[in-house]
Amino acid sequence: MTMKAILVTGGAGFIGSNFIRHVFEKTRFAGKIVNLDKLTYAGNPGNLADIGEKYGNRYVFVKGDICDQRAVLALMRKHRVARVVNFAAESHVDRSIFGPKDFIETNIHGTFSLLEAARRYWLDDPERSGNSPSRGSRPALRFHHVSTDEVYGSLGKTGKFRETTPYDPRSPYSASKASSDHLVRAYYHTYGLPVTISNCSNNYGPYHFPEKLIPLAILNAVEGKPIPVYGDGLQVRDWLYVEDHCAAIWCIMEGGRPGRTYNVGGNCEMKNLDVVRGICAGLENLFPAAENPALRGRKYADLITFVKDRPGHDRRYAIDFSRIKRELGWRPSVDFKSGLHKTAAWYLDNPKWVKSVKTGRYRRWLGKNYSR
Ligand code: NAD
Ligand code: DAU
Repeated sequence: MTMKAILVTGGAGFIGSNFIRHVFEKTRFAGKIVNLDKLTYAGNPGNLADIGEKYGNRYVFVKGDICDQRAVLALMRKHRVARVVNFAAESHVDRSIFGPKDFIETNIHGTFSLLEAARRYWLDDPERSGNSPSRGSRPALRFHHVSTDEVYGSLGKTGKFRETTPYDPRSPYSASKASSDHLVRAYYHTYGLPVTISNCSNNYGPYHFPEKLIPLAILNAVEGKPIPVYGDGLQVRDWLYVEDHCAAIWCIMEGGRPGRTYNVGGNCEMKNLDVVRGICAGLENLFPAAENPALRGRKYADLITFVKDRPGHDRRYAIDFSRIKRELGWRPSVDFKSGLHKTAAWYLDNPKWVKSVKTGRYRRWLGKNYSR
């Protein structure tokens, strides 16, 4: 890719930090990445400490809010960005149930403010808006919005979400993401802003904040704490290793058609109960319970505990990713067993990171409801 600078929003979070790492280390991109992140409880600059050291001035971190339209526009102008990729969001469904306000603020107002800044920046320069005869010397601006399969609602026993599936969000989180997707599409149809959207299923992998099922289950198991399973544990999610998601986003940024939506999934439907059983079995190989003093003679699977269900809990998600496969040649590459193994091994190998998210400013976010 010949572009000079990419503006990544929310790049200090789970997927955003994996994405920045992926672009620097796994692609031929030779330009600069500007990471704009508000550093909420979910943002951790430590996720990219080594990237800052390795890539010098090709990596710029800016603490800021996507709701601040003027600051975002100034940043776009300063770094002459050619691509925007929006990861910034409040991302945890449970928190959206306890307190939706921040979700409305960042996911809806924030996306609107980012779109408006991008539109103004785009109109600044005829080359970027594609109106100049000399276009071709520099690529036009592109805006990629990272979204979720949760906008489609809940599936019955069969079927998969396609890009044409009607939106039917059920939680404040998914409703806020659905709203942001509609705004992004509206900017394409109304103003011609060259946008793309991806709707992806559940990710897992390194740097995942331990409020979400997989990192929470791994860390609670290792510490001999209960592993909470909501309701009957038979809800189904379609799991994708985070690096596969990053590769899909990069494919779309390179070759995706403006105005187009791409579903991204792992072809990996798993019941929650089987996910936590898989984690327990995997940990037996990496750190046998018999050698873990926190287990006091128990097996990891003995820690699995059924707890009250999440209100409005969607039953099943599954993604039909045939469009991105057919049009852009992307497909998932990491199978669930090896992805889970890599993930659990990463948490065991990175006690400093684990300690950092369980102490200091992050600690209160793992309070009563989260560190069971
Ligand atoms: P995350 O919660 O780990 O990270 C979100 C990041 O956004 C954090 O670094 C946070 O500080 C930052 N942020 C929040 N509000 C901000 C604001 N107003 N301005 C600037 N930065 C702000 O989330 P994630 O799991 O990495 O998800 C990233 C994106 O991918 C989200 O848009 C989410 O909806 C989407 N998504 C996530 C998954 C998943 O399984 N995690 C799956 C599909 C789509
Ligand atoms: O589908 C994509 C979505 O995946 C993303 O848009 C969200 O940002 C991301 O957080 C994730 O949402 P989920 O709600 O599916 O993820 P979570 O890890 O919170 O839960 C996964 C499943 O496990 C879900 O069915 C709820 C259940 N669960 C979760 C937790 C935290 C439990 O049974 N016990 C738990 O302690």
